[in-house]
Amino acid sequence: MTRQRERVAGRTLAIEGGQPIRDTYLVFGRPLFSEEEIQDVVAVLRSGWPGMGKKTIEFEQAFAEYCGARHAVSIASCTAGLHVALLAAGVGRGDEVVTTAMTFAATINAIRQTGATPVLVDIDPNTLNLTPEAVSHAITPKTKAILPVHFGGLPCDLERLGELARSHRLAIIEDAAHAVGGVYHGRRVGGHGNLACFSFYPNKNMTTIEGGMITTDDDGLVEEMRLLRLHGLSSDAWKRFESKAFIPSRVVRDGFKYNMTDVQAVLGLGQLKRLEAFLATRERYAAILDEELAGLPFDRQLRPPLGGTDRHALHLYVILLRLEELTVDRDHILAAIREENIGVTAHYLAINEHPYYQRVLPYRPGDFPFAERVSARTLTLPMSPSMSEDDLFDVIDAVRSVLARYRVPAASAAAR
Ligand SMILES: Cc1ncc(COP(=O)(O)O)c(C=O)c1O
Repeated sequence: MTRQRERVAGRTLAIEGGQPIRDTYLVFGRPLFSEEEIQDVVAVLRSGWPGMGKKTIEFEQAFAEYCGARHAVSIASCTAGLHVALLAAGVGRGDEVVTTAMTFAATINAIRQTGATPVLVDIDPNTLNLTPEAVSHAITPKTKAILPVHFGGLPCDLERLGELARSHRLAIIEDAAHAVGGVYHGRRVGGHGNLACFSFYPNKNMTTIEGGMITTDDDGLVEEMRLLRLHGLSSDAWKRFESKAFIPSRVVRDGFKYNMTDVQAVLGLGQLKRLEAFLATRERYAAILDEELAGLPFDRQLRPPLGGTDRHALHLYVILLRLEELTVDRDHILAAIREENIGVTAHYLAINEHPYYQRVLPYRPGDFPFAERVSARTLTLPMSPSMSEDDLFDVIDAVRSVLARYRVPAASAAAR
């Protein structure tokens, strides 16, 4: 599959004044909506009940079934889901929650919003996930929960994390924002008996625009989370709408305004039906990227073999540049690829490198060497199902030509 390679040889990069690889900007993670999904949204808008209602319940049931969980609670976002799940698990002021230094701000903010303290651990340099060893060293008498993040969609070692949680009586709250469709030991993420929080943000594996879901097998926790999601009210708004009888709603605890709507849910139902097809496209595109970009100066996140008992959900195709083989830094490579009109991006800056977290958490640059290696080297390449194969080859050509331009000549590399 080398059909466009001639475009790459000897061209002047756009960042140096040449013509970009493509005329229009390829947006990272552009969602894909079918005409049927659009019509379903229109029908809900016309129904007179666009807020949380029957469609939301239907979506919760369908998502729980997909994951193999007893329950699913829909929620305004994965961030809200993490907040609610942590509170339902009893996490609060004075508690510690062990999580990864390589994650999005949402993970840390949700922990801090409960009043608890995030305790960060470093990652495995190949999986980019936190390791059970690091977690075990971070557990103290104050630890209440472990919050693993399935980075890019690669499931964490839930078996060993589960053993740790059982022996120390800790909750596990999975940040599965990236892992919709991921599989660990033959069972989908969300179906392992923990609280697991998913994101349906537009660039995720499936979308409701904004939105998320929490899965659990615990009947008590599910009731608690439904209360927390809607003002602590004893009956959801849609039940009152449905019923002729007056159903008084009583506030029985603290709560938030974190519910989903039927407009989002109907989109989620449509997207869920197509999720396996989306995942198959992601797997096919990842295989093409693997093959076409082989031999370039980067390493990529470890991935379990296709068809095995573990499945990378492939929300992100993450590469780590070998900076010692390049003449410029990651930011320059990223800027050069963007100038080619390719929406490449970077996940993430390690938590201890953000100015705000340096003020409020006891960490400094240098504390998490593997996470910080990722901060300096990582690039995420676009590969979503909304892209055509031609789009994918634009990505390939842009990455090839930019890395070829800035690669240290073989002789000087060998001399190092
Ligand atoms: C690791 C991680 N956790 C949580 C979130 C929050 O998701 P949401 O935007 O649905 O709140 C994100 C968002 O991208 C994420 O990447």
